[in-house]
Amino acid sequence: MRVAILSAEAVPYSKTGGLADVAGALPKALKKIGLDSVLITPCYLQTKGKYLWSVAIDDLWVDWRGFRYRAKAFYSEANGSPTFLIDAPEFFHRSSIYGFREDYERFAFFSYAALCLIKRLGAPPDIVHLNDWHTGFAAVKLALFRHIDPYWKNTRTVFSIHNLAYQGGFNADELWKLGFGREFEINAFLYNGYASAMKAGIVVSDLLSTVSRRYSLEIQTPEFGHGLDYFLRLRADRLFGIVNGIDYEVWNPETDPLIPANYRLSDLSGKIICKQKLLESFGLPSNLEKPVFASISRLTTQKGIDLIMNVSGEILSTGAYIIALGSGEWQYENFWQQLRDHMPDQVGVYIGYNEELAHKIEAGADIFLMPSRFEPCGLNQMYSLRYATVPIVHAVGGLDDTIEDFDAVNFTGNGFKFREFTSAAFLEKIYEALFFYHDKELWQRIQTNGMKEDNSWENAARKYLELYLMAKGRNP
Ligand code: ADP
Ligand code: GLC
Repeated sequence: MRVAILSAEAVPYSKTGGLADVAGALPKALKKIGLDSVLITPCYLQTKGKYLWSVAIDDLWVDWRGFRYRAKAFYSEANGSPTFLIDAPEFFHRSSIYGFREDYERFAFFSYAALCLIKRLGAPPDIVHLNDWHTGFAAVKLALFRHIDPYWKNTRTVFSIHNLAYQGGFNADELWKLGFGREFEINAFLYNGYASAMKAGIVVSDLLSTVSRRYSLEIQTPEFGHGLDYFLRLRADRLFGIVNGIDYEVWNPETDPLIPANYRLSDLSGKIICKQKLLESFGLPSNLEKPVFASISRLTTQKGIDLIMNVSGEILSTGAYIIALGSGEWQYENFWQQLRDHMPDQVGVYIGYNEELAHKIEAGADIFLMPSRFEPCGLNQMYSLRYATVPIVHAVGGLDDTIEDFDAVNFTGNGFKFREFTSAAFLEKIYEALFFYHDKELWQRIQTNGMKEDNSWENAARKYLELYLMAKGRNP
């Protein structure tokens, strides 16, 4: 089975969120179970020069808006499996990865270039695995190519939705300029008078997946469907939920080189050292009896930071610490900064992106807050489980699939989960967690239950293999 995976970001080459973790780890996991996979991702300015490169293709010709554009492709295995990085400075050498008016054009180009690259690499893949709206353009082209180009005849597409909130919308007049002039293509993109690359991927791909079972159901409802629930309901028989794995080579407290002391299930003493160092690094007094609440997040409405805003006063009035790492919308950045300025002995804040600090916080904190409004999968709650940091989550998407509320009678559960998206419900769980935190034996039980969970990529990779086999057996 040959699989080509396309993603706009992938660890370690580029990252703004969980998509990068997934795209970096999945190919490695597929390789371990015997699949021949190749990852294709853009080469951003931020990526260049950081890894060992060899130029694999110096003249990757891409037909683009009536011209032939000469791109390059670099080869690397820095993520543990074959990766090609498309180098086209005009599109990808920018101050940031996303956020430009013409993003739709940049990723349409990426999609075209990736398909040209695949053809240059030799035998056609059985599956092209597309991820999020950035690759919806490739889904549409492939749906056409398989009828007119024998090379693509037996290739099937799997389109994974990581976040329906980002849809790659643009003015439909641009479609023909991007090379999508046929009626079938225009219809695929058209949505409420504009063009949506996410909608196109959803309506034309052979099979669809999302990153948790619960989210696969939620997005078929108007509440979570971001306007596309109708199309997802239409294709419900082709839509599957596979919970992401986590990369235990990167996120493992036993071996993590980024944390001050390593620890394991049988001996958690290193975690106390991590807590002490974490408090010191933020200039906070080391009262190790008090719990440390943590948040690591893109600061967007999705993440429910407003609920944290509402309950932060109550948390701090118990004497606990709060440590936050994140960047994003100004009102949330302001909130964290002001909270720190008001309570400098209890609050530590880092505004920005910092991978190393994310590891240190996972290791040093006691309780992880993730009250997301919606969460397709979520990775930090799973990192928290492995690092014996007990998560409190809103019961949506992947948070609902991976976190089980602690039951003090049967000693089951790995965290705390509230159902109604209200500050009161969140606070109730915070108080419940604090109650158990002070009972050392029960707390260790919750930590142990979490550390024992197997959220490895191997499980998820096997489910993707099943999906690929199902797609391969389908007639278009
Ligand atoms: P999303 O993809 O919606 O942002 P996920 O939970 O799937 O949510 O993944 C977020 C990833 O990004 C995690 O690996 C998390 O540690 C990381 N992350 C988010 N914000 C930051 C930050 N400010 N600094 C470092 N890592 C961050
Ligand atoms: C998205 C989602 C997040 C998910 C990640 C990887 O960014 O917001 O929940 O974990 O993709 O699939």
